[in-house]
Amino acid sequence: MAQIMMKAIVYTEYGSPDVLQLKEVAKPAPTDDEMLIRIQAVSVNGSDWEGLIGKPLYARIGGLRKPRHQILGSDIAGRVEMVGKNIREFQVGDEVFGELPGYHGGFAEYVCAPEKTLARKPARMTFEEAAAIPQAGVIALRGICAKGQVQPGQKVLINGAGGSAGTFAVQLAKLCGAEVTGVDNTGKLDFLSSLGADHVIDYTREDFTRNGKQYDLILDLIAHRSVFAYARALRPNGTYFFVGGAVAVLFQSLLLGPWIRIAKSKNIRPLIVPQNREDLVSIAELCEAGKVIPVIDRQYPLSEVPEALRYVGEGRHKGKVVITLESNGKT
Ligand SMILES: NC(=O)c1ccc[n+]([C@@H]2O[C@H](COP(=O)([O-])OP(=O)(O)OC[C@H]3O[C@@H](n4cnc5c(N)ncnc54)[C@H](OP(=O)(O)O)[C@@H]3O)[C@@H](O)[C@H]2O)c1
Repeated sequence: MAQIMMKAIVYTEYGSPDVLQLKEVAKPAPTDDEMLIRIQAVSVNGSDWEGLIGKPLYARIGGLRKPRHQILGSDIAGRVEMVGKNIREFQVGDEVFGELPGYHGGFAEYVCAPEKTLARKPARMTFEEAAAIPQAGVIALRGICAKGQVQPGQKVLINGAGGSAGTFAVQLAKLCGAEVTGVDNTGKLDFLSSLGADHVIDYTREDFTRNGKQYDLILDLIAHRSVFAYARALRPNGTYFFVGGAVAVLFQSLLLGPWIRIAKSKNIRPLIVPQNREDLVSIAELCEAGKVIPVIDRQYPLSEVPEALRYVGEGRHKGKVVITLESNGKT
């Protein structure tokens, strides 16, 4: 029987966006525990860029020399086209959104996924808005609300505030009543203020760990300083969360964090964000209520995923970049 094909953006080696190719590949078939989803929109995260270039080292888990999975793309929104026999909560035709397990498979026309990390797309939300939320929104919700437990009046600093997760984090911290400082490059400072940041710091001109200011919570999306520098920028009993960045900082926070906690009463630790439907639904409800806005900077068609990734990799994006599938008629 002839294989049914679909379009996908494929890569077989780590590198620049030039290694990505638009190809015809076999359309996947769902197992008993999966649904086949026709993707309408998929957003780009920092993790896609890391998976493309193979840096930091954690981006090579499962594929040290070559990528283990050849299709990047984690956050999708689409329509269920087929369900495996163990799928209980969704039916053919349902509109769904969420994170794909292992952060791969989304830069394609179709993907198979289990139901546990997906949720029903809010009816009033576009596919693009829904695809913009999952990974970035859930990281921010965990970091600011669930684990950060930000209280009114607290001082919160978000490092890498103008990117995917940072944009959600700034808005959530403001919603919690915090005094928010956003750190990013020169071109994103006005954008951060427009999101509600009370203070902005241009990381190309100022090192926030050396200006004498201290915070109750630092959410670090792009860590590259020593944990001692971060500890200096924390108030007593303050918390620093490593979300992404240099592997050396991750190890430092694991190995030295407990010692700093005892010696200096400052919490330095990695923030592990499990993919889960509960947080996804919570952040989507805040978006639906208009309390948090999934800011979409640019949209690209599937064939232009390389340009979209280049734009994110060069750090020019303000908020989210979303790929709209040609099959959706919105190229
Ligand atoms: N912990 C977990 O469980 C978990 C789960 C999923 C993802 N992640 C990680 O989460 C991280 C954040 O992802 P994201 O999607 O928000 O990334 P993103 O969209 O690329 O945003 C990062 C932002 O940081 C800025 N930036 C770069 N260098 C900086 C510096 N030295 N100081 C301050 N800002 C700087 C970037 O702009 P410029 O480059 O222009 O400066 C960009 O605005 C990724 O590393 C990803 O792997 C963690």
